Amino acid sequence: MIGAPRVHHSTVDSTNERARALAAAGAPHGTVVTALEQTAGRGRHGRTWVAPAGRALLLSVVVRDLTEEAALLPLATAVAVCEACEAVAPVACAIKWPNDVWIEGRKVAGILVEGRPQEGWAVIGIGLNTEAGPEDFPDDLRPFATSLLMAAGMAVPGEAALAALLRSLEARLGDDSASVLEAWRARDALEGRTVRWSDGEGTAAGISDGGALVVEAAEGRRELDAGEVHLLGV
Ligand code: BTN
Repeated sequence: MIGAPRVHHSTVDSTNERARALAAAGAPHGTVVTALEQTAGRGRHGRTWVAPAGRALLLSVVVRDLTEEAALLPLATAVAVCEACEAVAPVACAIKWPNDVWIEGRKVAGILVEGRPQEGWAVIGIGLNTEAGPEDFPDDLRPFATSLLMAAGMAVPGEAALAALLRSLEARLGDDSASVLEAWRARDALEGRTVRWSDGEGTAAGISDGGALVVEAAEGRRELDAGEVHLLGV
């Protein structure tokens, strides 16, 4: 079951770091690490992840017995986060490939999946801005970030968001690839939009069955399976 056992810290370096240590020591599938605050939160592409103490849901989940569906873990998690947000607040979530969760074009949650496939486990880290206000985001991020409180105008207690998220993760992590892909595609924030990546520019045209971003560029159709894409002009 996703959510048990649960290890909670008031302050920790990174819930992903703690969950990785637990996984390496044999913690069972579903083990969850939560924290009110992180001192060394990690984001994708080696970035740091900063969240205001007590106003974001910070958690990491150990998953074991990875099958070939594991390649879609980041996408399945993004779908689960969207579903949890919509269960606790009147919001509509979309996903920016591969797994940023957006509300009205602003990021409300980030996901970092770190794995040791050869040892049969992975850690899914999720940072969801629940009660953060605009003042909690640095100047450069403020125009692009949001929280459930900012988007819905209502405070969602962290524990209520956590309960919803554990439920949706339980359902989506056990889902087959076809259902995950269908749910993800219905929430694609980039489809039809002009995007830029490290060495090119084109129109986002959905995702492949392996989870790669498909783009139509002047030189033809190609698939991006790693790296970052930005909306043009953003
Ligand atoms: C991103 O860059 O969008 C991913 C951010 C992931 C942040 C979460 S917060 C809980 C967990 N612990 C970490 O150190 N990172 C993830």
